[in-house]
Amino acid sequence: MAEIAAPEALTLRPIAAGDAGLGAELSRRVGWPYRREDWEFAIGLGGGVVGVRDGKLVASALWWPYGKSHATLGMIIVAPEAQGGGIGRRLMQALLVQAEGRSLMLNATAAGEPLYAKSGFRPCGGVRQQHGHVLAVAAPQLGAGERLRPASSADLPILERLDRAATGLERGPSLAALLECGQCLVLEKAGQPVGFSILRAFGRGHVIGPVVAADEADARTLIACWLHGRTGQFIRVDLRLGSGLGDWLAQHGLAPAGDVVAMVRGDLPAAPGPARLHALINQALG
Ligand SMILES: CC(C)(COP(=O)(O)OP(=O)(O)OC[C@H]1O[C@@H](n2cnc3c(N)ncnc32)[C@H](O)[C@@H]1OP(=O)(O)O)[C@@H](O)C(=O)NCCC(=O)NCCS
Repeated sequence: MAEIAAPEALTLRPIAAGDAGLGAELSRRVGWPYRREDWEFAIGLGGGVVGVRDGKLVASALWWPYGKSHATLGMIIVAPEAQGGGIGRRLMQALLVQAEGRSLMLNATAAGEPLYAKSGFRPCGGVRQQHGHVLAVAAPQLGAGERLRPASSADLPILERLDRAATGLERGPSLAALLECGQCLVLEKAGQPVGFSILRAFGRGHVIGPVVAADEADARTLIACWLHGRTGQFIRVDLRLGSGLGDWLAQHGLAPAGDVVAMVRGDLPAAPGPARLHALINQALG
């Protein structure tokens, strides 16, 4: 059996925009379908480290600040041949130093959970990825006084307000970047914005997220509007576990594709509502 190199042989350095291509290769090796563009997007919004050994990029760990008090961690990967040698532990130590003073959230795979538990994280919920090729979906039926309209960059303050109500987080820079690379629809009732959803290219096709809405009926409207007319296309939605939308999505071709455990180290943000986060930006970004 090949010997696992000592973690001391590994150099950690800050992640840079130029790492996106090698990052995509690394994530493919652990079965994750991120594209180079997904890495560029993620690196552009946050910070993190990569591990280099013998000139090869063998590890990554990113974090994204959401305001001054909180951040999420994700894209924590050690190449298969380098796992089990303490590199994951070193990645976590580096992120904890970079994000010092913040409460931290992440969505843990089964492989990552023991590492995070040892780093002071505790379970606080879950996320269910649902994906697949869309079956025929009818256009959403809007009630009296309801309207779906495309959002522009001028709507950013509205999106920030709704998202803050739903998450308790300051995610303005992420929302601005999502508006640039994706398409956004705002749901209005009696002229008032009550929710929004964003569709963007991601992984094997597209992802719908975040989906921010007061209730599941509105969230369904904000998802159906993207599924309608996209029969046969590959779409992913990362739902909060326990969401009543799972069966409905499965009926429309987006089957459950795996659950992860949401974990927090420190305090969970207080989300005042009434808007709620029904689907994440994606599993890593929260
Ligand atoms: C999760 C991952 C990053 C861990 O990296 P790693 O280099 O293998 O982890 P380490 O060798 O540093 O081990 C970390 C700690 O977790 C412990 N651990 C790892 N797997 C464990 C298991 N199945 N049960 C109990 N403890 C476990 C180790 O003993 C170690 O603890 P210690 O430092 O007290 O000895 C790596 O397995 C990976 O990339 N997996 C695939 C991608 C993935 O799922 N990433 C997580 C995304 S949330």
